[in-house]
Amino acid sequence: MILFGLKIMPDQASTVALPVDLTYLFIVAISVFFTILIFSLVVIFSIKYRRRSDAERPRPIEGNHALEILWVMIPLVIVLVMFVAGTVVFFYMFNPPKDGVQMFGVGKQWMWKFEHPEGRREINDLHVPLGTPVKLTLTSEDVIHSFYVPAFRVKIDVVPGRYSQTWFQPTKVGTFHLFCAEYCGTKHSQMIGRIIVLKPDDYAKWLAGEDPSSPLPAASMAERGAKLFQDLRCATCHGGGLAALGPNMKGVYGSTVQLEGGQTVTADDAYIRESIMFPTKRVVKGYQPLMPTYQGQVSEEDVLAITSYIKTLKADEAPKTEGAAATVAAAATVPAAK
Ligand code: CUA
Repeated sequence: MILFGLKIMPDQASTVALPVDLTYLFIVAISVFFTILIFSLVVIFSIKYRRRSDAERPRPIEGNHALEILWVMIPLVIVLVMFVAGTVVFFYMFNPPKDGVQMFGVGKQWMWKFEHPEGRREINDLHVPLGTPVKLTLTSEDVIHSFYVPAFRVKIDVVPGRYSQTWFQPTKVGTFHLFCAEYCGTKHSQMIGRIIVLKPDDYAKWLAGEDPSSPLPAASMAERGAKLFQDLRCATCHGGGLAALGPNMKGVYGSTVQLEGGQTVTADDAYIRESIMFPTKRVVKGYQPLMPTYQGQVSEEDVLAITSYIKTLKADEAPKTEGAAATVAAAATVPAAK
């Protein structure tokens, strides 16, 4: 938005940008209107009703019910409109649509690392397709960061030890600023990046590695996860063998898991991450708390890759100890069940 030749708002480049701006401008307009009204009346009344002589005594005011009801009801209606408008936008922002693409990001002093399910990884750049909802799962490797794209009106804290979810649907092709909006150390101000919105065709080309500047990685996220699952010897205990010391991972993702102690938990990204980092915290019923922690041995990106792999393990197929990557390559082309 341009006012008197000055750009006072960033580009509106996502579906949520206009509703956010309208809500914001509505609240600003109401605030400006009442500020001017009240200050004008203070000045006008202080002149009009000034004491004109020392002997002047004003008439006592008995009160006015009609006036009091009026000045309660009008602000009530106004703030309720603000509340409803804000809530509608809030629910839109925090309910990602079912379709769209899933991407992953890790904040770190002082950079953003992104990964596409197809395996493409980027630092401080994120390529996204135009007109498609882009869902982002974000976490931090160290301190609290904040993922902030002004043109999309998207801002969400990225907290170590948990997953933050956000989404946006770009409406303009172009390159947009990505900031870290949480003071995170000496180079916080340099923790900046770019969101590059491409037409779907161009995005597909970019993803396929037809852009010579960034050749396609050898493995998808799930394939990388499958390799980690072997290399870290996860498969020994979680491969469903007879001597397995841990629960079989097939069909686990999204299921409800019985825990030692009687509680249950949904096996989502957060629980899988917790089980890798703090395995004895919530142990699956029927198993001993034997698993060592992998904290410090696997990065947040590795955890995301392993989770991607676990998502591909359907209840009817067991992870194989040999050639798992090949199995997953086939499975990864099918969108993982939510
Ligand atoms: Cu990361 Cu500020």
